[in-house]
Amino acid sequence: MEEIIIHGGHRLEGTVMIDGAKNAILPIMAASLLATSGVTEIEDVPILADVFTMTSVLESLAAQVGFDQTQQKLQIDASGSLTHEAPFELVSQMRASIIVLGPLLARLGVAKVAMPGGCAIGSRPIDLHLKGLRQLGARITQNGGYIEARATKLIGADIYLDFPSVGATENIMLAATLAEGTTFIENAAREPEIVDLAIMLSEMGAHISGAGTETIKIVGVKSLHGTSHQVVQDRIEAGTMMVAAAITHGKVLIKNAIGHHNRPLISKLTEMGVTITERDDGILVEGPTHLRPVNVKTLPHPGFPTDLQPQMTVAQLMADGVSVMNETVFENRFMHMNELRRMNADFEIEGNTLLLHGKADLRGAQVEATDLRAAAALVLAGLVAEGETRVGQLQYLDRGYYLLHQKLSRLGADIRRSDVDENGEERPILNAL
Ligand code: EPU
Repeated sequence: MEEIIIHGGHRLEGTVMIDGAKNAILPIMAASLLATSGVTEIEDVPILADVFTMTSVLESLAAQVGFDQTQQKLQIDASGSLTHEAPFELVSQMRASIIVLGPLLARLGVAKVAMPGGCAIGSRPIDLHLKGLRQLGARITQNGGYIEARATKLIGADIYLDFPSVGATENIMLAATLAEGTTFIENAAREPEIVDLAIMLSEMGAHISGAGTETIKIVGVKSLHGTSHQVVQDRIEAGTMMVAAAITHGKVLIKNAIGHHNRPLISKLTEMGVTITERDDGILVEGPTHLRPVNVKTLPHPGFPTDLQPQMTVAQLMADGVSVMNETVFENRFMHMNELRRMNADFEIEGNTLLLHGKADLRGAQVEATDLRAAAALVLAGLVAEGETRVGQLQYLDRGYYLLHQKLSRLGADIRRSDVDENGEERPILNAL
């Protein structure tokens, strides 16, 4: 069983590079399905399990995909005939596969995608995706675990989202690019990954404005073409590194990190006493000797991101006093806390609110990740726990972080990744995937 093994208590210092954003590359790969001419080239592609899954999804739809891992570049040619069905085996591995529904429908007039299930962090329905596509004129049926959407012609519409869902905003944007007339998405998600998708679609010939605000306007065009695009930096990976520096009293430059993408985290860490300097070459984070407690509530962007909630709870545990974490985006995103309890964390959970008693005297233990960001939180806890922490179930970590252990090790952490054979012998591995 592969594990990350950490001996806590080391201060982090140095410079760290951040990869392209997982939550940007997945819809961008789906967008490439809309190009009926030319090839799409994507740069700064993170080497993640989810990218490999999306590659398989695109290939199952008959797109040709080449992934140069050394250069971190993807080439996608979707100019030939595509098929319209994304199979259950792939969608069940990664619920974000639902993002191909909009582009397939727009391009082929029909799309059949396995219905994604819930996952560890919540039930995660897709009603808002379907509501938007229906308003564009799609007929949607659900049968045998599949969603089928059909439309002879998509027509622009005014679509109001009850909640600014990231995936629904993306699916509707993707479908509306080829609709006849103008679409407005109101109460749209405003995440930087939405802006990156809009930039990519514009480079492909789409007419989109307002991405990053509450209202996105899409004027449909007849066709889209391949393009070259560089993926935006992963603000959640950057934020994870910022928390790592803060809790280890470290001094770390997050190279080329974009301050306004992480405004809520910067604000909360500053409240805790962390010194944060936004420079031309990135964000410099200097952790204090003592962290002050702070209350946090997760919200859609530009609120505090739910994808940094588990990591932030580790910082709150390390503060001198009581902190509150209120999770409003997902119903079940405190599962990492049960593992942290095994590391001697003291807290109470009431519904979606967590009361964290600091300063925790964390002790190393064997713990297991339950989802991607839980995995990151457990690694962070290991950095400040006394003794040895072993984090298992790394398939979750590999969905969203590339060689996290190497990056932390270069900053001075005592951390390695190993493969433990049946005799309990550890075999260090060079590459996580
Ligand atoms: N929701 C609905 N109906 C819908 C869609 C969403 O009720 O039709 C609810 C969800 O159940 C959830 C909330 O709205 O409670 C937010 O869901 P959203 O659609 O915004 O999230 P998503 O598109 O499924 C993306 C990221 C997540 C991230 C969320 C929120 C990708 C591939 N995934 O998911 O990333 O947590 O936005 O920011 O972009 C992660 O990276 O660890 C991760 C889970």
